[in-house]
Amino acid sequence: MKLTVIGAGYVGLVTAACFAEMGNEVVCVDNNGARIDSLNRGEIPIHEPGLEPLVRNNLAEGRLRFTERLADAVDDTLVYFIAVGTPQGEDGSADLSHVLEVAKELGRVIRHRCIVADKSTVPVGTAEKVKATIQAELNRRGQKLDFEVVSNPEFLKEGDAVNDFMRPDRVIIGAESPWAIETLRELYAPFTRSHERILVMRPREAEMTKYAANAMLATRISFMNELAALCERLEVDVERVRIGIGADQRIGYAFIYPGCGYGGSCFPKDVRALIRTGEQVGVEPAILKAVDRRNEMQKRLLFEKVAARFGTDLSNRTFAVWGLAFKPGTDDMREAPSRVLIERLVRSGAKVQAYDPAAMPTAQTAFPGEWLSLGSVKLVPHQYDALANADALILVTEWKPFRHPDFSRMKALMKTPVIFDGRNQYDPDDLRAQGFEYHGIGRP
Ligand code: UDX
Repeated sequence: MKLTVIGAGYVGLVTAACFAEMGNEVVCVDNNGARIDSLNRGEIPIHEPGLEPLVRNNLAEGRLRFTERLADAVDDTLVYFIAVGTPQGEDGSADLSHVLEVAKELGRVIRHRCIVADKSTVPVGTAEKVKATIQAELNRRGQKLDFEVVSNPEFLKEGDAVNDFMRPDRVIIGAESPWAIETLRELYAPFTRSHERILVMRPREAEMTKYAANAMLATRISFMNELAALCERLEVDVERVRIGIGADQRIGYAFIYPGCGYGGSCFPKDVRALIRTGEQVGVEPAILKAVDRRNEMQKRLLFEKVAARFGTDLSNRTFAVWGLAFKPGTDDMREAPSRVLIERLVRSGAKVQAYDPAAMPTAQTAFPGEWLSLGSVKLVPHQYDALANADALILVTEWKPFRHPDFSRMKALMKTPVIFDGRNQYDPDDLRAQGFEYHGIGRP
């Protein structure tokens, strides 16, 4: 099929590359010229395992190309995918301006019967707005043509996105017309071992499904984080409780890991957008608000533990931070707990020595320049370098190389052997036996 993907961000790029890999002819459009140039050279602007070879191979074989102008892409495209950002607006709702701009542009250029599929995460009712926006432009041009707007949300995890696209748990097609449904079924058939994984529903239901999935996962995390707080006061190790409840098949082990809060480009903003939707339609979003509030508290927790141990005046203190990305496997620091922690440490006078296996380039621009130039935050080239003369190590992201480090080497490097384990990666008894002072999340 001939496809156009609008937006060469993380979702758009993965979508374009994976469709091309399955033999489709794909054009990927983005208005960032520099990004398009580097993509055409096969350079990937994000850290996503497996994506670069996909893009390079498909570029070389001519199934994938990148362009700055939508008009270059159009002629015989059958499905246009909108994969532009929907950032959090001022009032917490999803900002639809990029999506609607693309819709307007589509209304100006399309000439053939086609399908427009929303991949961006958008509030319920957006497919209708996109349709009306395109139709208004067509009317203005005096152009009559048949087009269909469908909702086709993505469920891609950063760091595992190619895999998620190639072997999805499910594909949601929110569409009304049999033609659109059949076209998308055919497009997704090679990605699903059986058609059962393709779920067809109305566009509004598809839009809601996306928010519901993310909000449910965020709820599980915030719930566990609240239990962790209870456990800590009650002399209970939350990790035992996690193992105990996860064994119940109705509960399961996924997304019940307590920690220092969820981050990333999806959970925080999607929970808030759904809260806003609730308020707009007169439903008190009591649970969603609690999920968001617990997460904000959770992101401050590591600092509070440090302050409880070392006091609030941290001048003359140095802390090693392991992990800056919001989760392992990505260089993304959007809404990362590390930001909240480091900001508070610096404001309390501390020096921070930080290391992340992938996010060092991101970190260069994530903090105010003077923090780096004055040495409040030092980004070091190796995980052990962060420990030099440190009062404590704070583990924020559970990257694999942090799991089984050389503890005796660590102890020799640090000023005092204190570990704040923001992801409960270590065995407290084991660390204490090795002479460390251990602070976890929800562990006595
Ligand atoms: C998420 C959804 O998983 C994906 O389906 C959707 O399309 C986009 O949002 P992503 O943001 O890449 O993907 O991250 P995910 O792996 O879901 O993790 C989100 C956050 O939750 C991370 O900060 C992670 O550290 C945290 N988390 C996850 C926990 O704190 N505990 C857990 O048990 C699981």
